[in-house]
Amino acid sequence: MADWWDADGRRHRKQFANSAAAREHEHRETALAHAERATREMKLAARTSSTKRSSSKTETGTIEPAKGKLGVLIPGMGAVATTFVAGVEAIRKGLAKPIGSLTQMGTVRLGKRTDGRSPKIKEFVPLATLDDLVFTGWDIFEDNMYEAASNAGVLDYRLLEQLKPFLSTITPRAAVFDHNYVKKIDGPNVKKGKTKMDLAEQLRDDIRDFRKTSGASRLITMWCGSTESYIEPTEAHQSVKSFEKALRENDEMIAPSMIYAYASLMEGVPFANGAPNLTVDLPVMLELSRKNEAPICGKDFKTGQTLMKTVLAPAFKARLLGLSGWYSTNILGNRDGEVLDDPGSFKTKEESKLGVLEHILQPGLYPELYGNIFHKVRINYYPPRGDNKEGWDNIDIFGWLGYPMQIKVDFLCRDSILAAPIVLDLVLFLDLAKRCTALRGLGIQEWLSFYFKSPMTPPGLYPEHDLFIQLMKLKNTLRHLKGEELITHLGLEYYD
Ligand SMILES: NC(=O)c1ccc[n+]([C@@H]2O[C@H](COP(=O)([O-])OP(=O)(O)OC[C@H]3O[C@@H](n4cnc5c(N)ncnc54)[C@H](O)[C@@H]3O)[C@@H](O)[C@H]2O)c1
Repeated sequence: MADWWDADGRRHRKQFANSAAAREHEHRETALAHAERATREMKLAARTSSTKRSSSKTETGTIEPAKGKLGVLIPGMGAVATTFVAGVEAIRKGLAKPIGSLTQMGTVRLGKRTDGRSPKIKEFVPLATLDDLVFTGWDIFEDNMYEAASNAGVLDYRLLEQLKPFLSTITPRAAVFDHNYVKKIDGPNVKKGKTKMDLAEQLRDDIRDFRKTSGASRLITMWCGSTESYIEPTEAHQSVKSFEKALRENDEMIAPSMIYAYASLMEGVPFANGAPNLTVDLPVMLELSRKNEAPICGKDFKTGQTLMKTVLAPAFKARLLGLSGWYSTNILGNRDGEVLDDPGSFKTKEESKLGVLEHILQPGLYPELYGNIFHKVRINYYPPRGDNKEGWDNIDIFGWLGYPMQIKVDFLCRDSILAAPIVLDLVLFLDLAKRCTALRGLGIQEWLSFYFKSPMTPPGLYPEHDLFIQLMKLKNTLRHLKGEELITHLGLEYYD
């Protein structure tokens, strides 16, 4: 027996057919209760800090200025990484515009709708400029960024030719790689070491070397490497002590991406994870991140099909339209598609893509509408399309009196064109977090959930997946940092 709530928030006693169903229900309700408690605590904390905020004249003093160069370290110099770096250089040269980037084109409304104050985000908070960015990376292949971008086939060769002198100078450092974690690829540019701790030390040397040779005053690591095979956290991932022991003992549950994350955080360098691997979504990394004031965020860039899902699902919930099934399938022909053709890597991606509906639709609160959804996600490797993915969605919904309806989405997108501005924003915002006393010791930067399919949260807190809640959270965080009023959209003051 357990309680459930109807759509009006009334509480009922529920009988279950068997004990497994009852346990599953209890589990869901406990998670919801945890999340509600955490939300209450966060609201309380926000109230306390807003009292503090009004007593200090301005919060800007707590954000250090973005002085000097910002170094970007990228494990995985494939399609996304090269489209990002080439794009930054093209924009710097005035050859193209930063379309899709919130930090470059977005604005933030301040005060009342009648105040007419909507500065650009990059003018409202002190962000590094594109001219400040310098790059390095690691890859298992020896291609420089020009060669890698040419192979990825995302950008037009005429544009690439103009960027060749710059892109050719960025050559990959030897990678930390384990074929068991990415079965479909192998390459020659790989570090050797007796233990995983030796490999971590070599990565730390690389980071120090780049800091010195580039003259960067601050660094950020941005994982753009392949999706690794699915694993679940073990004892080794629970604390810095157990993780370091596991590194020395070559524990097979430590994936290469975790070694990059450990090396970065040990060097005090923030880390963002663009793939669905666990990587920084582990207690050990949260501990290190807080200790060394190196912010973390992830997982898995929210670009194509999941972006659409997190726009449409909130609309169904807002209008109380039921959902009986959502079938999503893709064809994709780039190297990422090839890697995801392996069942281990696909499972990691599948978990990340499947999670969003449950959290948006809250079947525990709306059992008649969302208690029985068939949700399926497929990715098919299809070389002729290259990076130009096609994603189809068939959505079965039902309305008034239960009458069924269907929606079909056919999104002919360009994977790396959608991902590159996300990389840019994450680099600039993570650097802001590192320079900001209110954010740098928090560990997970939940306000950056906007960019991820599977946003990281502290234990016991469910993630926000609704794109527009995520955007509001991000902009309110910026307002909060600058001591501006948060925008609640209440709006009663206009009718006083
Ligand atoms: N493009 C998108 O829209 C999108 C969306 C969400 C997530 N992602 C994820 O972003 C990542 C990059 O995507 P991509 O299209 O650029 O893939 P890609 O295959 O073109 O590039 C990945 C690169 O990582 C390298 N690599 C693999 N393991 C490495 C290691 N241990 N160290 C250093 N390099 C390593 C590979 O050699 C390859 O060059 C993938 O994990 C992908 O799933 C992409």
